[in-house]
Amino acid sequence: MSRPSAAERVSRFGTTVFSEFSALALKHGAVNLGQGFPDFDGPDAVKEAAQRAIRDGVNQYAITTGSKDLRQAISEHAARFYGQQVDPDTMVTVTSGATEAILDVILGLVDPGDEVIAFEPFYDSYDANITFIGAKARYVPLRAPDAQHAQWWIDWAELEAAFSPRTRLLILNSPQNPTGKVFTREELERIGALCVKHDVKVLSDEVYEHIVFAPAQHVRPATVPSLADRTVTVSSMGKTFSLTGWKIGWVIAPPPLRDAVQRAHQFVTFATASPLQTATAAALRLPDSYFQELTANYLARREKLLRGLREAGLPAHAPEGSYFILAEISHLGFPDDVAFCRHLVTQVGVAAIPPSVFYSPDHRHLGQRFARFAFCKTDGVLDEGARRLRDGLTKAR
Ligand SMILES: Cc1ncc(COP(=O)(O)O)c(C=O)c1O
Repeated sequence: MSRPSAAERVSRFGTTVFSEFSALALKHGAVNLGQGFPDFDGPDAVKEAAQRAIRDGVNQYAITTGSKDLRQAISEHAARFYGQQVDPDTMVTVTSGATEAILDVILGLVDPGDEVIAFEPFYDSYDANITFIGAKARYVPLRAPDAQHAQWWIDWAELEAAFSPRTRLLILNSPQNPTGKVFTREELERIGALCVKHDVKVLSDEVYEHIVFAPAQHVRPATVPSLADRTVTVSSMGKTFSLTGWKIGWVIAPPPLRDAVQRAHQFVTFATASPLQTATAAALRLPDSYFQELTANYLARREKLLRGLREAGLPAHAPEGSYFILAEISHLGFPDDVAFCRHLVTQVGVAAIPPSVFYSPDHRHLGQRFARFAFCKTDGVLDEGARRLRDGLTKAR
C-alpha cells in the first residue's frame, strides 16, 4: 500500500472557502463581494516608487531584517500615528505580508503542545499555523451585538477560563476580520491584565489599522502599558495602500521577541521583494491626507453597502473598522450560511462568504446566522451588487 502524498499536518486542509466561492462567482457571472481585496488600485506615487527602484537597480536580496529605509519608515509611522517609540534596528523585521509574519511569530514563540488563545470568528491562517507547529488552539467566541451591547463583545468569564498553564500566546486582531470590531482601550487593558497574570505573549494583527470609522479609534495594543513588553505587532501595506498583491508586511516587537521572530523569518523567506520594500517606505511616508481620504472613502462604501443590504432585507450591524459587513440571514429560512451563500451566488448573482468557516467546529453554529460581504469595491460594483440582492432576495420572498 502506498503512503498518502500529503503530510498529516496539511491533510485536513482542503480548498479554502475563498477559492470555492470565487470559482462559483466566475461560473455564474456573480458580483464578487466575497473576496477581501480591493477592485481598485493603489496610489500612483507608490507604484512609481516601485518602478523607479527596479530601474535604479534595487533588485538583489534585501538584508534579512528588511531594508534600512523601510525599517526607518515603519518606525516613523509608529511614532506619527501611535506615539510608539520603535528602534528600527532591534525592533523590526520586514516579512512577505502579514501572512508570513503570523507564521514567523508562532514559529518563534510557541512550542508544540503549547496553547494559543484566539477570538472567533478568526482569520483562517491563525488556525492553520497553530496546527502546523503542533500547538493547540483555544477559541473564545466574540459575542454579537444585542440589546445590552452596542458592539461585538467579550464574555470575560469565558476568556479567563481559556487560560491554562500551557497558554503561550493570545492572538488579537483589531480592527477585526470579519466582525469589524475595534477593541477599546479598556478591553485591551483587561486583556493585558490577564496576559500579565498568566505570563502570555500577544500577537496583535493590525492589517486594517487605517480602516477605522469614528467614533471608533484604533488603539495599538503595544501602546497599552501592560502589553508593551509582551506584544508582537503585525501589520502590512496591502490593505492600507490597496496593493494586496505586493505582500510586504512587518513585525514590531521588543528586541527579545523580535529576535525570536527573526530567527524563524530568516529560514522562512530570508528576505522579501527589495524594490517593493523601497516603495513601501514611500507609502508609509505619504501625508496624513492620504490616510484620511482612505478612511473617508471606505466610510462612504460602508454606508452604500449597508443601505443596499438593508433594502434587500438583510439587516446588518455597522462595522467599526475593516472592510467587511456581517449581515443577518437567519430569518430567511436557509439551513445555514453555506446554503444561503450557495443560493446567493448561483441564483442571485452575488458572492459572499459563509462566516461559519471562521469558527472552530464546536462554535460553528454561531456563524451560521450571518453572511460576510466585503465593501472594498468600486461604486459601480457595490451598486450592481445591491441591485441584484434587492431584486433576487425580495422576489424570492
Ligand atoms: C486579519 C488579517 N490578517 C492578515 C491578513 C493577510 O495580510 P497580508 O496580505 O499582508 O499577508 C489578512 C488578509 O486578508 C487579514 O484579513
